[in-house]
Amino acid sequence: MEIHERKKVMVVIGTRPEAIKLAPVVLELEKNGAHFETQICVTGQHREMLGQMLRVFGLRPDHDLSVMKAGQGLAEVTSACLTGLDRVLRDQRPDLVLVQGDTTTTLSAALASYYHHIPVGHIEAGLRTGKKNDPFPEEVNRRLATHLSDFHFAPTEVARDNLLLEGVRLEDILVTGNTVIDALLLAQARLTEEPSRAVDCLGATDGLRIILVTAHRRESFGLPFRRICEAIRAIAEKRRDVLVVYPVHLNPNVQAPVREILDGLPNVKLLVPLDYFSFVACMQRAYILLTDSGGIQEEGPSLGKPVLVMREVSERPEAIAAGTACLTGTNPERIVEAVSSLLDDPARYRQMTSRPNPYGDGHAAERIVQFLTTRLISPPS
Ligand code: UD1
Ligand code: UDP
Repeated sequence: MEIHERKKVMVVIGTRPEAIKLAPVVLELEKNGAHFETQICVTGQHREMLGQMLRVFGLRPDHDLSVMKAGQGLAEVTSACLTGLDRVLRDQRPDLVLVQGDTTTTLSAALASYYHHIPVGHIEAGLRTGKKNDPFPEEVNRRLATHLSDFHFAPTEVARDNLLLEGVRLEDILVTGNTVIDALLLAQARLTEEPSRAVDCLGATDGLRIILVTAHRRESFGLPFRRICEAIRAIAEKRRDVLVVYPVHLNPNVQAPVREILDGLPNVKLLVPLDYFSFVACMQRAYILLTDSGGIQEEGPSLGKPVLVMREVSERPEAIAAGTACLTGTNPERIVEAVSSLLDDPARYRQMTSRPNPYGDGHAAERIVQFLTTRLISPPS
């Protein structure tokens, strides 16, 4: 039998969604320990919100750059990640670096790897709005990550086509589905086996329908974000038959307006960010998901929940085309109207909740690791 050298794969994680979406990949690489030695490097771009995700998935970092500091700008986070990763990559010399998505960590890790001539695999590659500043800075982060990467794991065919249009070679792209669906199925299975894994932050809800809210996008900061908060306030005041549940992102630009505009309303629960199992349990109990998050647009359809997206554009056109998500923008009237229509029109609600999920079947991580095995362990002769 031919004996192959194990390949060292460094998985770089910075923020909450990267931890959720990379956890299934790390677990799959670990299952294939005969081929791969897996190391996790966290930049610590997020601190508390990353820590809680690493804990629930049982991930232990091998390297921690601890870059988060209060009041940092994008340039500071980028340069701290780049310098820290440069050191780790020089010491460890992995055979491959895996990055996910479009954060500052993603861009820095892809760039640092390129400087060291280390191949990069980009997970959730090919998402585009075509607008440089929306989302900011993610649209440019992911475009640059594409050109720094060698293997491109596209969640959908639309994403693959975006990559082809930018000149990426077809043989370097694999359409996998989104790894967030793998994470979601894992969480749902664990919650069925062990419901106590989730902190029940809702308790008795007296038959009220739950509107689960998250919002944090940088391009909305300032007036658009205040308008989102005002819309949520108007919904809570107008509709005493709903309970608004909002785990508030720790970014101070989010915390301040949310506390100012939404604190103290009897049917609004402002919570700390929830660990993934608790959040999935909340999504299962929710009637509507009202969000500007990327990941929640992908998770909603698997849970049979409608997603109202408080953004002007989305890099996830599949959900909009499938009718499981709908863009409301940040205009308060449009947000209130979209929520009211779902609350009052059962046919509209059914229409948004009875479509298949365009984001995958929960086997994305397996496909990624299989591809890496073919390309790194047994390259075609
Ligand atoms: C980042 C990503 C965004 C992603 C989001 C997920 C970039 C440019 N943006 O945005 O793509 O959708 O994460 O949530 O990479 N903070 C804490 N504790 C934490 C996390 C954040 O205190 O655990 C506060 C800190 O003050 C930090 C600030 O939030 O400086 C902003 O965090 P940052 O990572 O810069 O950007 P996000 O807006 O979270
Ligand atoms: N999420 C979570 N706890 C929360 C809020 C969100 O676990 O309190 C999960 C959510 O299910 C999704 C991911 O975090 O998988 C989305 O992260 P975020 O909104 O921070 O980033 P984005 O998806 O916009 O990049």
